Amino acid sequence: MSIQVLDKTFVPYLSEQEIQDRINQLAIQISADYEGKNPLFIGILNGSFMFASDLFKNITTPSTISFIKLASYKGTTSTGTVITSIGLEENLQDKDIIIIEDIVDTGKTMSAFIPSLQQLQPASIRICTLLHKPDALQFPLSLDYVGFNIPDKFVVGYGLDYDGYGRNSREIFQIAQTS
Ligand code: IMP
Repeated sequence: MSIQVLDKTFVPYLSEQEIQDRINQLAIQISADYEGKNPLFIGILNGSFMFASDLFKNITTPSTISFIKLASYKGTTSTGTVITSIGLEENLQDKDIIIIEDIVDTGKTMSAFIPSLQQLQPASIRICTLLHKPDALQFPLSLDYVGFNIPDKFVVGYGLDYDGYGRNSREIFQIAQTS
């Protein structure tokens, strides 16, 4: 059944079952990869809150989790944008970090954020994103765990928003074609 979010119509794209099955697979893989490493998951707010919750519930190796917000402003990096994190209180030195993102689109946010995270000298940084739009990627980025590669079309639901709305659903919807 299609839904209306503000002025746009969205059609069903990924069901709750598909999302949960894929998250289970990711959690099994990450738990195995990080066995004995006590990794720190960092969820990027707001969009990843549902994904982070469902992923973390299924992680079976001892792990911690924290959440941050990213704020961008014009700066002097190669991307022209400097990303600062709000709310990160943990000491990251020598920690194995797994960033939890809702979606990587152009890659601009993550490619600007990773260098500032590297300055805190973690042992390693990997990115786990629920969704990725390969055709939209403009900034070099290595994505270690990807839930679904999707076409370059706007999606909402399961934490993802259109102008703040549409986050509150268990499934993911894709923007309807306008004819
Ligand atoms: P990037 O910096 O272009 O990779 O954009 C990443 C951010 O843009 C995500 O964390 C989302 O907040 C937002 N975004 C990109 N594509 C979508 C979409 O299809 N639906 C909702 N938010 C999106």
